This record gives sequence, C-alpha cells and structure tokens, in this order.
Amino acid sequence: MGAVLASRSVTPEQLPARSPFALRARLLTPLAAGGIRHEPDGLLVVDADGRVAFAGAASERPDDTVAALDLRPWVVMPGMVDLHAHLPQVPSAGLGAGLDLLTWLQRYIFPLERGFDVAAAERLAPIVWRAFAAAGTTTAMVYGAVYHASLDATFRAAEAHGIRAVIGKVMMDRLTYDPTIDPSAILERSLRESASLIERWDGRDDGRLRYAVTPRFAVSCTADLLRESAALASATGTYWQTHVSEDRAEIAEVGRLFPEALDYVDVYDRAGGLGPRTVLAHGVHLSDRELTRLVETRTHVAHCPASNLFLASGVMPLGRFVEAGLSVGLGSDVSGGPDLSIFTEMRVGFYAHNAMRVAGRSGGPALGPLDWLRMGTLGGAEALGLDRAIGSLEPGKEADLIAIDPSYVASVAGAEDPDPEDLMSRLIFRSHPDMVRGAWVRGHRLEGPAERA
Ligand code: GUN
Ligand code: ZN
Repeated sequence: MGAVLASRSVTPEQLPARSPFALRARLLTPLAAGGIRHEPDGLLVVDADGRVAFAGAASERPDDTVAALDLRPWVVMPGMVDLHAHLPQVPSAGLGAGLDLLTWLQRYIFPLERGFDVAAAERLAPIVWRAFAAAGTTTAMVYGAVYHASLDATFRAAEAHGIRAVIGKVMMDRLTYDPTIDPSAILERSLRESASLIERWDGRDDGRLRYAVTPRFAVSCTADLLRESAALASATGTYWQTHVSEDRAEIAEVGRLFPEALDYVDVYDRAGGLGPRTVLAHGVHLSDRELTRLVETRTHVAHCPASNLFLASGVMPLGRFVEAGLSVGLGSDVSGGPDLSIFTEMRVGFYAHNAMRVAGRSGGPALGPLDWLRMGTLGGAEALGLDRAIGSLEPGKEADLIAIDPSYVASVAGAEDPDPEDLMSRLIFRSHPDMVRGAWVRGHRLEGPAERA
C-alpha cells in the first residue's frame, strides 16, 4: 500500500520535460514484428533527438545512460492513436444518446459547429489538446468545422501544445450549416481554403502536424466535391478522411443521392477516394463487396465502438473485418462517442465484440486485451503510414509515450498484475480518468495529464 500511495506523489513537474531522459518503470509495448514486449523492471532511454535509444530490462542498461527517474510501479507504454474525433464537438460530449445520426447532427452538432469561429477555436482547442494528452492520446486525427480561420487557430494550438495531430477543415457543399456561403461558389472556396491550409500547415514541425482533406460524408458532399477533394489529397500527398456506412438511414440517403453507385463505398471509389492515405470512420454495415474493396485498396477504417452504440448506429462485426485483412484502428469520434479516451474505446469495443461472438455474428478471432492495445497504438500508426515512426516503444522510433499509475485501476489497494495481459485487461476495464500521469511526443512532455488531480 505504501508504495502505491508513494507512486501517486510523483508530480508532473518531476517528470522530464525534454529529452534526453531515462525512465525506470514497467514497460509494455506491442512490437512491429508482432507480439509484445513486457519488462516488469524496465528501462526506457530517450535520446536528445527525442528517439527511443533503449527499451528493455533495467538490468541490461547501456553504460552511457543518463540517470533514470524511477517511476516503478508505473507502466510506460506507447501513446494512444485516436484515428477519428471532432474537435469542435467536445462541448456536447455525452449529449443526445440514442438519437439517430441524422437527427443528432441537425439537433446538436450543426448548431455547435456553426459557432466554431476563431474565438471559439482559440478558447477550445488548447483545452482539447490537453484533454487528449490527459486521456493518453499522443496522436489524434481530427475534424474541425467548415471555417478556414478557425482551423488555423486549431493548428496553432496543436503546434504550441506539442501533440501529434492530423487535422482537416470540414468540407460540405450541400446540407451545410454555413449560412454565409454562396451556394454557387462553395465548392471552389472550400477547395481553395483547404489548399491554403495544406500549404501553411501540412508537415509543420518535421511532420508532427499533418493535413487531412475532409469531405464530411456523402450526404453533405456532391460527387464533384468528393472527386475534387480526393484529387487535392493525392496531388498534395495529404490524407483524405470521411465517414462511411455508419447508420441505416444515412446509408439509405446515400443510395438516394448517388443512384449510379453500387453502394456507399463505391461512392468514394468513383471519386478516387480509396487508398492507403484514406481513413474512413465507422464502416458499421459494410457489405462483403465493400469490405473486399477496402482491403484491395488498402483503405483504413477508424473503428468507433462507443459512438456506434451511443448513437444506436449498430455493432461493427470487427472479427469478420479483421479476418478479411481490413486495416483497423480506433477512434473516439467525440462527440458521437462521449469520451476522448482510447481505453474507453477498447472497453466498449471489447464488450461489443464479445456480444457479437455470443450472438454468433462476428466470426474471426477472439481478441484479447493485448490485441486491443495493438489496435489503439500500432494499428492507428499503420493507418496513418507512421508505423515506422510511432506506435511502439522500439529503438529508433520517435518517443511518443505515456506513463500510467496502475494503482488507479487496481481492484484492491496494492494488488499487482504481474501478467501483461492481466495488466492490460485492468487498464481497459477499470480505466480511470486520472491514471495517465505523463505523456510525451518526441520526448517533449505534453500538458494535460495530472492537471485535475
Ligand atoms: N457523419 C457525418 N458527420 C458526422 C459527425 O460529425 N459525427 C458522426 N459520428 N458521424 C457523422
Ligand atoms: Zn465522426
């Protein structure tokens, strides 16, 4: 008990703000080559360039290591990757449960995003970047609203905070909430503004900030916008992100708007939107044909299980999709999902996957806690084409990591989980909003963790 209480007394100021540094802690990480590495008494060394120099047993400590800060029994692991969230929507997190998607968008979301001007972004974005870090997320792929200037403010806040982020201005040339816009000029303006944001921000700080061209979804985009936006993403080497096959009424509406397309995925295929730089959110109700096409084109899916249940969109048959070879990472989809934590997504996704298996509807493998760890870290990094840089704690990679105090998740004070699968299970099923005590990107400590406690 004493050691557990003592571990809570490490304050953020005692954690290293900048590399080089070394942390002695329990290490848990997936490995790029498969499997995991678990070191009960581990050492992580981060060099002056913010890269992992050593991740292994403390007993194998390299000779020239700087003095290590002893965080035991804390756990050090790679930072989480959130593949899908809406920054302007954070104020309505937790509101509207059970409404169907299209009603929820009209009632809660479009009015909120309509107010996301520069002042709102300057107020909200710094808070949200800190909240991501507090939740253990070191990389976030987010949507803004339709306004160009507020996206600039969102990028500025990410630049100042230090989080790794992929950000995009939402594009909508029908069913939009922007009352100021001239319908005949909306497509050209949206493309021009996206291009200027790309020019200013994509690749900033050695690639820490990236741009995603962001048509909202087929319901609010014409075929022209989808095609032109995909062309912009491929001409500039930026990402392309949108929503797909989330809710039955949405899917029916896409069928009505695009009668020539075979299905929802085909709408994006015809626009030239599929491929390895594309992340599609949800994909709850994909047909076998759609699934095959996503796998063939190496398009990625952000699985957002909490949102899918919050909005009663459905339960994605994850096992079947994984077995088919689909690339899947996790997304909070705030505020479709009520919580910024990827640990929450793991928990809800785990429950949903178990329910599908019980109902005989999932197929595919049973997924254990360490599979979910992989999906929330390396899986997300792979979706962003960043798996050689981040997603695991391995020498040469950039040091994007978090430190967790496991006393927050113990069922009985002082109880330890020596087995790594048990530890991860505890972090998923008993995750606590204050358990992440430190977060770093490239060896720079982020503000956010431990601010509440
Ligand atoms: N589809 C189109 N826009 C949205 C959104 O903001 N959230 C979710 N969950 N789905 C969408
Ligand atoms: Zn979304």
